[in-house]
Amino acid sequence: MKLVKHLANLGYGSRKEVQWLFREGRITNAAGEVLYADDPLDHDDVRVDGQPLDPAPGLLLVLHKPTGYTCSTRDAGRLVYDLLPPRFRLRQPVLSTVGRLDRDTSGLLLLTDDGQLLHRIISPKAKLPKVYVATLAEDLRGDEAALFASGTLLLEGEKAPLLPAELEVLGARSARLTLHEGRYHQVRRMFAAAGNHVVALHRERIGGLALDGLPGGEWRMLGEDDRARLFAG
Ligand code: URA
Repeated sequence: MKLVKHLANLGYGSRKEVQWLFREGRITNAAGEVLYADDPLDHDDVRVDGQPLDPAPGLLLVLHKPTGYTCSTRDAGRLVYDLLPPRFRLRQPVLSTVGRLDRDTSGLLLLTDDGQLLHRIISPKAKLPKVYVATLAEDLRGDEAALFASGTLLLEGEKAPLLPAELEVLGARSARLTLHEGRYHQVRRMFAAAGNHVVALHRERIGGLALDGLPGGEWRMLGEDDRARLFAG
């Protein structure tokens, strides 16, 4: 791939805009020598205004999503992409969220530009556990753990029952719930089916990967160790 296309794909501008960066001598190698648009691509050796390039395609990152942000590329309100470097929204291949969290749900959200990896994570075959902590409007009745573990709970409007899920009671109105699938608004609908209402929801973990103290609104790139942990869950 030509250098100019690589930079455009990383979100540094349209091809035309990137051509201008070359013309202005702002694209150099690590030694400070000016590069040209059709020079061969050596990602790690390229600098834009002296700065190393954003990571090459193949990204996997974790974001601690705060409430109030939507998992969408366009929506009138706050978007999870607003919490990432602005260029990340312009990348090709597109950086997508791995599944979604509702606007009012906080916690661990993965994003990747690797379609195969995305499918591996969300595939029902992978059955990666997703762990949520829910705060409820009403006291737990006591039969929720059995109901959720039954494998027979049918949510309104669905044809297939839910896979068994594990509930751990944390308090009169709070519980940790581990799911092995991801259906639309699943946690909220499960508690609704049990006569309750979720007032706050937080995802703690996917597979073996947790937020590990990452503050709300912050993100970090995941490396090979993290990927291994994710699938070891
Ligand atoms: N279940 C929900 O109801 N909402 C989420 O955001 C995630 C799981």
